[in-house]
This record gives sequence, structure tokens and C-alpha cells, in this order.
Amino acid sequence: MEETPLLPLLFLASLLSCNAHQAHLTVSPSSSQFFKGSLVTLHCEEDDGSAHSSFSLRRNTSKKLMIQCGDDFGIWSVSSCTISYIYTWDSGVYWCESKEGPISNMVNLTVTGGSVILQSPVLPVMEGDDVTLLCKTKTTPSNLPAAFYKDGSLIRKQPTGHMTIQHVSRSDEGLYKCDISGHGESPSSWITVTDRPATTVLPTSGTPETSQTSLHFDFTLIRYLVVFCPYFISTLIIVSLYQCRGNDPSISEPMSQGIE
Ligand SMILES: *[C@@H]1O[C@H](CO)[C@@H](O)[C@H](O)[C@H]1NC(C)=O
Ligand SMILES: *[C@@H]1O[C@H](CO)[C@@H](O)[C@H](O)[C@H]1NC(C)=O
Repeated sequence: MEETPLLPLLFLASLLSCNAHQAHLTVSPSSSQFFKGSLVTLHCEEDDGSAHSSFSLRRNTSKKLMIQCGDDFGIWSVSSCTISYIYTWDSGVYWCESKEGPISNMVNLTVTGGSVILQSPVLPVMEGDDVTLLCKTKTTPSNLPAAFYKDGSLIRKQPTGHMTIQHVSRSDEGLYKCDISGHGESPSSWITVTDRPATTVLPTSGTPETSQTSLHFDFTLIRYLVVFCPYFISTLIIVSLYQCRGNDPSISEPMSQGIE
């Protein structure tokens, strides 16, 4: 009877994962870097499409931790947070929360007082996809030639300020920045590459290398649990019912008699 204490635990775990709401945090305009003074909207989108007034959006910055949109910064309305004039001290990590805690992906935003930004994907990029990075200046409307760096080393010089990485793989993961001659350098941003979701079983390939990828991995795992938990619970109920009958002679005897 080794599995007996395990069953209620498993049952509880699956119940908890069933009740957990999941949401996606998206950023508009879609960029992880902004010029000071930009208008930025962050949106918490519930995965099942239902409305949840109990949502909130929180952030950690270098100055303040766990502060909430609507109370401490920005304007909160219909699951969206609008920051009408973003400052450099708004740089930080943002996420959506329900009463139970964080329920979405985390997003890093970097706000610069300088004149160059790198527009890179806010969300992790899926392995095999193409990714385009754009190096922009604050003052020049047209795209200027730019140099792109990964983990501190120059990787490419592009005449139009765009760089496309085709069929991204894990090795493309890293800290990117760009430089426009005569204008300056952008801040650095992480680009994270995730596995394509497996079609059959839980994704097991690839060891999470950074806290960021492991967070995303946990998120994927929770989503799988949510999908499989109705099946999981009914299996557990059947298994526990079966065990009760097997252990109780008063139940199993009439049953076997009935079969005979
Ligand atoms: C935000 O700060 C709190 C308090 O230090 C910490 O517990 C939490 O893990 C931080 N969250 C993120 C996403 O950095
Ligand atoms: C956010 O930025 C920090 C510091 O650069 C990095 O360690 C972390 O992995 C990033 N997280 C996300 C979700 O991009």
C-alpha cells in the first residue's frame, strides 16, 4: 500500500491545476524596448476567453517590487494597463496575477532615455521560426544602417536596420543589442527560444538553461496538466474506487457472486 498516501496528494495537485487560470501577457506596440515618453499598453488575455475582474497586472522594477497597475502606475481598464508616458524607471518585469498568484508569462520591458532601441520579440520565440529585429532611432523616420550584437560580439551589419534570423534554434538564444553609427547604442534584450510544443507527450527535451526558459517550461507543463486533468481525475477516482472494492470483502464478494 505504498501508493495510498500518494493518491490524495496527486488528487489535490490535479484539482489545483484545474482551478488555475492561465493568461497571456502581450505588449502593444510589440517590443521589449521603448523610448522614454512612448505610450505602452499591456494586456492580460485569459486563455479560455472568459472575463476575470479579479485579474491584476504587477511589476518589479529596480526601485519598487510587486506594485500594481491602476494603484501604483498606469491606468487599468478591462484587463489592460496603459502607461501613457513611459519613463526609464518603468523598466522591469511585468506579469498578470489572479488571487492565487502569477498566472501569465513574464515580460521584460526596457525604457531608454537614449536615441536607439532594438525592437525584439517580447515573447519567447519558437524553434524553427524566423525572427526579425529592428534597430530604430528616435529622431530619424527612415531606417538607417545598423550593427547587431549578440552576447557582446558583432554578428551582422545590415544596411536597412533590419536583421532576420531564419529558423531560430537554441543557439540563437542570448542578449542582443544594436548600434547606429552617429546615434548610439540600444539597451540589451534577451531573446529566448522555446521548443515547439510536442504533439503527443509532455515536452522533455532540452534542459532549461536560464530561469526564463524554465519559467516558460513550467507554464507549458501547467497547460498540459489543465488539458489532461479531467482525464487524470476520472482515472484517479476509478483507481480509488477499485481499491476500495478490492480491500473490502463485503463489496467484492457480492460482486464476484453476481458474475458467477
Ligand atoms: C518580484 O519581487 C518579489 C519580491 O522580491 C519576488 O518575490 C518575485 O519573485 C519577483 N518577481 C519577478 C518576476 O521577478
Ligand atoms: C529579464 O531580464 C533579466 C535581466 O536581464 C533576465 O535575467 C531575465 O531572464 C529576463 N526575463 C524575461 C522573462 O525575459
